[in-house]
This record gives sequence, C-alpha cells and structure tokens, in this order.
Amino acid sequence: MAISLREPILDWYAEHNRDLPWRRPEATPWGILVSEIMLQQTPVNRVLPIWTEWMERWPTPEALAAQPPGEAVRHWGRLGYPRRALNLHACARVITAEHGGRVPDTYEVLRALPGIGDYTAAAVASFAYGRSHAVLDTNVRRVLARTVRGEEYPPKATTSAERRLAESLIPAVGAPRWAVAVMELGALVCTARAPRCEGCPVAAQCAWRLAGRPAHDGPVRRG
Ligand code: ADE
Repeated sequence: MAISLREPILDWYAEHNRDLPWRRPEATPWGILVSEIMLQQTPVNRVLPIWTEWMERWPTPEALAAQPPGEAVRHWGRLGYPRRALNLHACARVITAEHGGRVPDTYEVLRALPGIGDYTAAAVASFAYGRSHAVLDTNVRRVLARTVRGEEYPPKATTSAERRLAESLIPAVGAPRWAVAVMELGALVCTARAPRCEGCPVAAQCAWRLAGRPAHDGPVRRG
C-alpha cells in the first residue's frame, strides 16, 4: 500500500533535510514564490546566493514592482532562463496593483499570475499557506513512478493517474511537510541517475527496486 510510504519518508526527512532559507518558518510567501520560480530550472546551490540577494534588495512585491523590469533581469545573475525574472517582475506588479501587495493564498488565484504554472501555484499554496495540494515536480513524480508504479521515470507530461496517486497520499495533517519530504528524497536519494537505494527509507517496499531496477522502456526522460 502506497500509504505505507509516508511514515518512513517523513522520518527520513526529519533527519536529512537541508536547512534552506525558504523552508524556514520565517520565510514569507513572497520569498517562497521567488524561490520556487528560481528553483524550477536551477539547482539549489546556485539559487541560494541570488535568492538571498533578491530578498535583501526586494523584500516585498511592492519593492520589486517599483523598479523597471530590466532591474529584475540585471540581478538574475547566471540562473539562466531570464524570462523568469521578467515573470517575477510582472507578478510583483500584479500582486501590488490587484492584491494589495499580498501574495494570493489560493491555488486558483496564484495560477492566474503571470508565468505561474500548475506546479508553482500548488507549491506556493502549500508551502506558504499550508494548503493541501499535490505538489508534482520532477523529483516527486520520479519517486512515485519508482516506488509505486515500478518504473524508472515518470511519463513525459503529468497524467491524471499520477495526480490521483499523489492526492491519495497527502496526509490530513502536514500536507506541506509531506510534499517537501518527497521532493527532498527525490533530490538527494532517488536521483534521476545513480539513485542511492542503500540510503532510501522505502527501499524495502519500492516496486522498481523489487523488480530489479529495470531500465526505462522507450524514450528516456531523465528529468
Ligand atoms: N524546498 C521547497 N521547494 C523546493 C524546491 N522546489 N526545490 C528544492 N527545495 C525546495
């Protein structure tokens, strides 16, 4: 039963989680939103200094909204995909003009912000406001593909079956912690290449490992 994944993964997370500033209790919804956009295509260690600089320079959406868009790009550093800087600037302006400077607290309203997709809306609603959403990034999708479905990689695009599975696993209490725990397991142990099954808290019940870690069948998706 997939439900039996929960306790070992939560226990593992309690011991192995990285102390990242956007995960601390004092992180603001704005800081969490900025982190999720930066982390979409860039590894944590490269995001850390730029995120910290952004938070010092623009601690609120109003502060960024008061600048021309080029400033956001100028301070994007080498995170790559600089369109994300422009999207964040556009978000800051909409949040300031239409939401009283407060990052929206529901999935639907977040999803309507510029450049905010399904993943980011669910992540911010969950991590910033404690809402219960399936937070399906590539790490989470890979962990579920392996442990439950017995496949090395998830399908190219998120399917409704994956969504239903993820939703069925969300605990009644502590949905955000569960989401970040699975994400962390995928980032640190159940990695795309060379997963460290020997350090995995659910290795004994992982369908993919029990099947002998069969290689992905079809076009390889390593995300
Ligand atoms: N913690 C919260 N969201 C995260 C993400 N997208 N990547 C890494 N760590 C995170």
